[in-house]
Amino acid sequence: MTDPKKEAAALREQLNRHAHLYYVLDAPELPDAEYDKLFARLSAIEAEHPELRTPDSPTQRVGGAVLEGFAKVRHKVPMLSIRTETDITSNGAAAFDARVRRELGLAADAAPIDYVCELKFDGLAINLRYEHGVLVQAATRGDGEIGEEVTQNIRTVQQIPLRLHGDKPPAVVEVRGEIYMRRDDFETLNERQRQKIAAGQKNEKVFVNPRNAAAGAVRQLDPAIAADRPLSFFAYGLGEVTPPAEGGPDWPTQFDWLQQFHAWGFPVAQQIKRASGAAELVAFHELTGRERDALPYDIDGVVYKVDSLALQKQLGFVSREPRWAVAHKYPAQEQVTEVLGIEVQVGRTGKLTPVAKLAPIFVGGVTVTNATLHNEDEVRRKDVRIGDKVIVRRAGDVIPEVVSVLPESVARPPEQRGAVFSMPSKCPVCGSDALREEDEADFRCTGGLFCGAQRKEAILHFAARRALDIEGLGDKLVEQLVDSNLIRTLPDLYKLGLTTLAGLDRMADKSARNLVDALEKSKKTTLPRFLFGLGIRHIGESTAKDLAKHFGKLDSIMDASEEALLEVNDVGPVVAKSLRTFFEQAHNREVVEQLRACGVHWEEGEPAARAPKPLAGKTFVITGTLPNLSRDEAKDKLEAAGAKVAGSVSKKTDYLVAGAEAGSKLDKAQELGVTIIDEAQMLALLPG
Ligand code: IVH
Repeated sequence: MTDPKKEAAALREQLNRHAHLYYVLDAPELPDAEYDKLFARLSAIEAEHPELRTPDSPTQRVGGAVLEGFAKVRHKVPMLSIRTETDITSNGAAAFDARVRRELGLAADAAPIDYVCELKFDGLAINLRYEHGVLVQAATRGDGEIGEEVTQNIRTVQQIPLRLHGDKPPAVVEVRGEIYMRRDDFETLNERQRQKIAAGQKNEKVFVNPRNAAAGAVRQLDPAIAADRPLSFFAYGLGEVTPPAEGGPDWPTQFDWLQQFHAWGFPVAQQIKRASGAAELVAFHELTGRERDALPYDIDGVVYKVDSLALQKQLGFVSREPRWAVAHKYPAQEQVTEVLGIEVQVGRTGKLTPVAKLAPIFVGGVTVTNATLHNEDEVRRKDVRIGDKVIVRRAGDVIPEVVSVLPESVARPPEQRGAVFSMPSKCPVCGSDALREEDEADFRCTGGLFCGAQRKEAILHFAARRALDIEGLGDKLVEQLVDSNLIRTLPDLYKLGLTTLAGLDRMADKSARNLVDALEKSKKTTLPRFLFGLGIRHIGESTAKDLAKHFGKLDSIMDASEEALLEVNDVGPVVAKSLRTFFEQAHNREVVEQLRACGVHWEEGEPAARAPKPLAGKTFVITGTLPNLSRDEAKDKLEAAGAKVAGSVSKKTDYLVAGAEAGSKLDKAQELGVTIIDEAQMLALLPG
């Protein structure tokens, strides 16, 4: 039998190596499922032998108990700040270089100074203390002398090694760097936050920018929440270091230390560059400025550091700012401007987005006149009105957005401010009803087949392989056909002739002929394919099949009441409502008729027997995050089986379906003795 201690150690090493490959080097060697297996095995050993649990075990990244507050930490070596060179012309770098040379007492003809150029990350500084290679403490910068201990939260950052790689780590070493959030992670997080808010979770908030989101996560008292926020890290500096008795690193330059950090397993930005003399500093500033937008995270400038640690020591610091480093900033990614109007735009999928029309403003390197306001709730939450002064943010190629209204604008008396924003009830492009579904943040246009904004998307969907399967009708061609006004609605497809097609750009006679044939062939289809091809919201392939089977004929589906639709297997109120609204739009019905008139046909069948309703009379409540289904999907399935789904637990509740992170509803259900089931048990209650 294997020794659990040895096995645990081997697993830890394996898991840490693979986490580093995955999170730091972005070069995974192991499929996720394999990693999960190893992780589960280690967790099992540690559960059986708690004494084998070590602080560098990957199982310790999940975070422990909720804290009351943070302990204070006195930094052994103060955490300095950097002087900012406000002169963003090349003079700034030259002035810095000249000052360094003067302070070192160098002659005019002495050799140029060597520097390291780095990115100035826009996050928050953190000090990571390793003793004998193991992470023992993480602290924020605080006032530079005293920071806060945030070890638990920092452990959850996968990019930070819990144990330094390699042999002979120093007895004590402090690695410093920046905790930050990538822009894509920030967008995903905020999208999740918006959904939580739309679903009525009152204590949730949307974050202003990645830096605030990162800072908020680091200062979370509940490490489980911190673990859920996607944080990243770059190493860039050294704090206290006590070399081991023999060997161990004792590097003479900043550049060497950056290499050492990398070797220990930390992410170090690839952009670091050794430079000599002012001209090379300026070149780095310019190059990085051009690449800034393409970086996946925010930087607010670059940092120049004297490379030699001996020279750094000689230069020293004044009022917490080293004389050997300077930050050279870029134009800000947030600016203030005025809201001139609020317009509503319709996206390719019918989503309505309120957009602020702005007094032109130079931000993040471009002039911005439009900024997204996301959705109605967001406009109201931020309380943006016409005439307000707002903060606009544009970072990278992310769409500019209105972050917040200046307090001075909010403070104006109501009669001096614009009206509270409301979404229009009709689509501004086609005039169809615009609807907002329950638990959804977005309004959508219901004129899918008719709406000019959705034309291209609707045609592509209709032509897709699993819909009408029109071979050869791809992205580019649809773009051309719509832009040249040859197609306005779906039936126009079947009016395209060989000559028209052959006259298009990059269209050979043979391709034109093939397309005409494909169009002809597509006319013979099936009811499920046709129904799916209409692109009705929430009607996927399998729902289309269920509908076709249940009703047999298209006309019966088009005329079915919501109650009748609810009888179909897997159709809940969300799907039923979506079908009803779609077929209530006269434009949509017209398109269907015209398609039939063009010769699109299928075999119709007889209606099926009534679907069973085994859960009629039972009341369910759903709470927490289910492993596979969204709460809406679970609700639809239950309702389709005849159950009632309520929002809160009471004596009348028959079942509570509980997922991960279930909260007060679970407590209440336990208190009342309600049967508690998980997703799998819920699915087992549904008909075949
Ligand atoms: S070095 C010189 N290097 O900037 C010693 N700091 O104003 C100071 N920062 O709190 C730190 N990127 O959060 C250094 N490559 C970089 C940096 C960097 C961002 C931040 C750091 C610090 C602030 C100093």
